[in-house]
Amino acid sequence: MSRQKIASLSDLTEGKTVKFQFTHKGKPTEGFVACFKGKLVAYENRCRHLPLSLDYDDGRFFSRDGKTFVCQTHNAIYEPLTGLCLRGPCEGESLKPLKIEITEDEVWLLE
Ligand code: FES
Repeated sequence: MSRQKIASLSDLTEGKTVKFQFTHKGKPTEGFVACFKGKLVAYENRCRHLPLSLDYDDGRFFSRDGKTFVCQTHNAIYEPLTGLCLRGPCEGESLKPLKIEITEDEVWLLE
């Protein structure tokens, strides 16, 4: 199993997200880690409707009320703690979760 530093814990206060790049099965892939209700979650930055990033490259993942992630292309709404799409063209599907580990002030991706 490999480990890659993806963020500093101090950058992930409530409602914040950090994007990162990693290699998955030899392909460059983007992920994001977010702090929601005091928990850190990480997912591949790829909508389940079409293979597009959720944030459309501007780093915004949370809805205006901060309660869900939203895909900026067709407004699919995802539950942050589970990645489940609650509403939109891919309702019932889930974001691909990524394993992370926290050590002191560092957040690591485990692959
Ligand atoms: S690409 Fe995300 S909802 Fe269509």
